[in-house]
Amino acid sequence: MSIRVAGIPGSLREGSLNKGLLRAAVELAPAGMEIKTYTGLGDIPPYNEDVFAKGDPEPVAVMKAAISEADAILISTPEYNYGVPGVLKNAIDWASRPAGKSVLNRKPAAIMGCSPGLGGTIRVQHALRQTFVFTETYVMVQPEIKIPSAAPLFDSSGRLTDDNTRQHLKKFLEAFVVWVQRFKS
Ligand SMILES: Cc1cc2nc3c(=O)[nH]c(=O)nc-3n(C[C@H](O)[C@H](O)[C@H](O)COP(=O)(O)O)c2cc1C
Repeated sequence: MSIRVAGIPGSLREGSLNKGLLRAAVELAPAGMEIKTYTGLGDIPPYNEDVFAKGDPEPVAVMKAAISEADAILISTPEYNYGVPGVLKNAIDWASRPAGKSVLNRKPAAIMGCSPGLGGTIRVQHALRQTFVFTETYVMVQPEIKIPSAAPLFDSSGRLTDDNTRQHLKKFLEAFVVWVQRFKS
């Protein structure tokens, strides 16, 4: 069974470690899983209910289509001030509407993240899980990927080179295949 995953980085930064982690996931995806990275987060306007009432702006429609066409989403995000980076939260707010009929409803998901410091994105991952309760998004429970002190795990081109982390990521993705299959009819 083929599984299409929309990969969503929570950072806009060119040299983002979390983009690097997502690139590694694309590279290490198990047979039968294809991860397509969504790159339009920076184009999404600030959420405004008045704008929503007139219809989704083009970048929002593109993002919703990317999520809708995928069987699952994989978010790779940094933590900003103990929470979800604004650009990512803003995109999720758009994606969450219309409530009850959103592209996030009953969509399998996985969250991962890495930080140069010691936190390893643990707090942002819990914050995202809380948001996904309302949207009824089925976030994989275990295993988790929250990587502290991550900078040395990548080479100068941003490729994840640390073997232990690559193995861990591989197992995470294999578990994600099983998780997504649970919800496929
Ligand atoms: C506005 C801002 C807030 C941050 N807050 C946190 C934080 O709460 N916890 C943390 O571990 N790192 C924090 N950092 C550091 C980020 O983890 C670090 O910049 C990381 O490299 C960002 O991810 P990226 O490499 O994928 O862009 C913050 C960085 C910025 C710019």
